[in-house]
Amino acid sequence: MTTHIGLLGCGTVGATVAEMLLTEKAMLAKRSGQSLALKRILIRDTTKIRNNKIPANLFTTHPDDILNDPDIQIVVEVMGGVEPAKTLSLRAVKSGKLLVTANKHLLALHGVEIFRAAAKANSCVCFEASCGGAIPIVLALTRGLIANEIDQVVGIVNGTCNYILSEMSSTGKSYSTALAEAQAAGFAEPDPTLDVTGGDSAHKLAILASLAFGTNVPFDRIYVSGINTIDDMDLRFGRELGYVCKLLAIAEKHSHGISLRVHPAFVPQKHLLANVNGSFNAIAVVGHASGQTIHYGRGAGGKPTASAIIADIVEAAMGTAPLLFKQLPLLTRRSTAGVIPIQDVSSRHYLRMMVHDKPGMLHQITGILGKLGISLAAMVQHEAHEDQFVPLVIMTHEAPDGKVTQAAAKIDRLKGIRGQTRHIRVIDPAP
Ligand SMILES: NC(=O)c1ccc[n+]([C@@H]2O[C@H](COP(=O)([O-])OP(=O)(O)OC[C@H]3O[C@@H](n4cnc5c(N)ncnc54)[C@H](OP(=O)(O)O)[C@@H]3O)[C@@H](O)[C@H]2O)c1
Repeated sequence: MTTHIGLLGCGTVGATVAEMLLTEKAMLAKRSGQSLALKRILIRDTTKIRNNKIPANLFTTHPDDILNDPDIQIVVEVMGGVEPAKTLSLRAVKSGKLLVTANKHLLALHGVEIFRAAAKANSCVCFEASCGGAIPIVLALTRGLIANEIDQVVGIVNGTCNYILSEMSSTGKSYSTALAEAQAAGFAEPDPTLDVTGGDSAHKLAILASLAFGTNVPFDRIYVSGINTIDDMDLRFGRELGYVCKLLAIAEKHSHGISLRVHPAFVPQKHLLANVNGSFNAIAVVGHASGQTIHYGRGAGGKPTASAIIADIVEAAMGTAPLLFKQLPLLTRRSTAGVIPIQDVSSRHYLRMMVHDKPGMLHQITGILGKLGISLAAMVQHEAHEDQFVPLVIMTHEAPDGKVTQAAAKIDRLKGIRGQTRHIRVIDPAP
């Protein structure tokens, strides 16, 4: 029996999915036992030059040609954004079609509504491609690690940011130079805002945390800080101290709730995550039985993403995806997690301030930290010429985020401090 597929979108990802379904049909049938037929593709711009391996008669600008076609059993949403993707996805699942989506933005904000609609209509939603591109992390969290209570998920889940930070670290380039080069090389969008401000990583974290902890994740409770304020001077000091800077998406279980945050972090050079470079992604998961597993691979791009989407299409066609979806009460009937505010989350911290080199400054700074109960683990100040502003770097022992933010604000008000204290959290994911 042939399973017919409709695609909503034919951009970077959609065009590759279409090409693979058309040109690798025999290989897919041999490996999966499924006969998959691409029937229609929704686009909006009929004047665009398209992949010439895709027959022109597959294209339509009318969603009804897919959503009202009774032959089409699987709808693949690769349009992106919230609307009209949300309306069309809901229509698909409500009419009993199986939905495959790569749209992390939509799932992070409206996943619960779409999952519930799918469950009610006896349909299902597959979303392997929404996090980590080719990396089968949804499969790992929902099946491979099913025997585990998950304690921690720490991911490098945005290839654009990782490319920029890797370039800055390895060559000493500034943020703006590294970003411009990433755009020229095709590793960053012309408008990279959602990536560099941490928004895209937060979308993925919402999905990963909800799978890891079996709770709904209120997206607006995720603390988000991007890489757009990172100074290359801090990466150099970090390296001197044995750390590499990464944009991390972190979900952790605590006795009284979960913490959810996306921010640049110093990771010890020896940790595997510190060695994930360029546009690659990696997600470290700590389970109570498995210990730490690290899932590494290409997190974006047409082919890696299509690899995950086609795996979902095959699971949907085989009938295993709908079965699994039914067994995942975590997706449809769960409570919302209690999220611990960032102020109450403890870690080690890197602080760098520009200090007027005159007697008494160090005493005032350590006094502020001491009064707030923040103890010092290391301090770096290179030889200075008297009466100049020089960088002073302080590494703290574990301290609550709120106390450190408070201390930095007080330090910034001291006479003899220029600019704002730079603050990067230090994370040592469980080995
Ligand atoms: N790119 C990646 O590496 C990657 C990786 C993982 C996940 N994803 C996710 O995959 C999805 C697609 O990403 P992409 O990079 O392929 O996006 P894209 O290149 O911008 O393609 C979007 C496609 O959707 C179509 N589209 C958008 N709005 C439409 C509308 N209102 N009506 C009809 N068609 C519409 C566009 O049609 P036209 O061609 O006519 O403009 C285009 O074909 C997003 O959710 C993204 O987050 C992407």
